[in-house]
Amino acid sequence: MTDPGQRLRRSLADQSAGSPTVNGMADFDSPIAMEALRATRVLHAADQEPFPAPGRIRVITIANQKGGVGKTTSAVNLGVALALYGLRTLVVDLDPQGNASTALGVEHSVGTPSVYDALVGDSSLSEVVHPTTASPLLRCVPATIDLAGAEIELVSVVAREYRLRRAIEAHLQTLPPEQRPHYVLVDCPPSLGLLTLNALVAGDEVLIPIQCEYYALEGLGQLLNNIDLVRQHLNPGIAVRTILLTMYDARTRLADQVAEEVRNHFGPLVLDTVIPRNVRVSEAPGYGQSVLTYDPGSRGSTSYVEAARELARRGVALPPLASRPAPGMPVGVSVGAGTDATAAHGTAAVPVPPSAEERKR
Ligand SMILES: Nc1ncnc2c1ncn2[C@@H]1O[C@H](COP(=O)(O)OP(=O)(O)OP(=O)(O)O)[C@@H](O)[C@H]1O
Ligand SMILES: [Mg+2]
Repeated sequence: MTDPGQRLRRSLADQSAGSPTVNGMADFDSPIAMEALRATRVLHAADQEPFPAPGRIRVITIANQKGGVGKTTSAVNLGVALALYGLRTLVVDLDPQGNASTALGVEHSVGTPSVYDALVGDSSLSEVVHPTTASPLLRCVPATIDLAGAEIELVSVVAREYRLRRAIEAHLQTLPPEQRPHYVLVDCPPSLGLLTLNALVAGDEVLIPIQCEYYALEGLGQLLNNIDLVRQHLNPGIAVRTILLTMYDARTRLADQVAEEVRNHFGPLVLDTVIPRNVRVSEAPGYGQSVLTYDPGSRGSTSYVEAARELARRGVALPPLASRPAPGMPVGVSVGAGTDATAAHGTAAVPVPPSAEERKR
């Protein structure tokens, strides 16, 4: 019997030479060897082909007013995957729970410079950006519990819906081209209040994580209607560009049915990659880590890498926005709303899914 390490290295070498694989993996005969192979790939992301840079800086709002559907988990793990594969990424934690900050191991106790200081106070975003241990390319604006009061404090602030947009625009304009993030991921709280509104006004696109369970589509209509209102009145550039199916449990028929229903309804907006329910994903934040760094070979880790790869590939064709400096390009453009809301899928407004009642009829 050959040494497993040797087989692993040989298989990796064979793969780079283009030898046949099963589902993109070498034909390993033991689950442990497969997991080791997957772990090696994630851990040595820097040695592999980087993800392609987007055609413009992508500010992606990760929203769903339903709680616990995987918004934070997706913001964190997609962020880490993009960074490990070579793309500068900034995660903005816009939830007073501060879960994204926790999962990225970023301090967020009261008094820590945070997104609150940029939204309600006078700080610039640059003053509240923190490094992360996951990757030198990944940075995070943490949220402290102060943010819980921001919904009320913002009510009397001038241009309250534009606070985050202006903070992000100013941050991008001040950074030298080689430090500008390719991706800004904004993790929203589970509500449609002023914080989520700020995130929808700040973003060019929305990513909606949908949990593969009954009632998955309930309440989505309200979110889509709100996005429409934002597009009509505050941010003509915003569009739902990505749907990510999360917590898929292959053992249940329900998960398949939900996934099928979501694909029927949202079509090409839905990423091919589905995030499985995986215990390592839920354990990782307890160690202040993403699942990619906590257990790189787990299914949760590799599926987030694949989802990030798909996201990155889809971003290549995006046209630049007049409102933003391009990644890696000199500054020198005006600040305003983008206008290519219809570019991705030919329609700005995503149809509202039927409710459970309507589906029964
Ligand atoms: N793929 C997965 N497998 C197993 N557990 C998961 C997975 N994705 C998320 N979880 C767990 O489900 C819970 C909810 O996930 P998460 O916090 O990302 O949702 P959320 O939409 O951000 O929630 P909230 O609305 O409260 O902000 C967390 O405990 C998380 O660890
Ligand atoms: Mg969350």
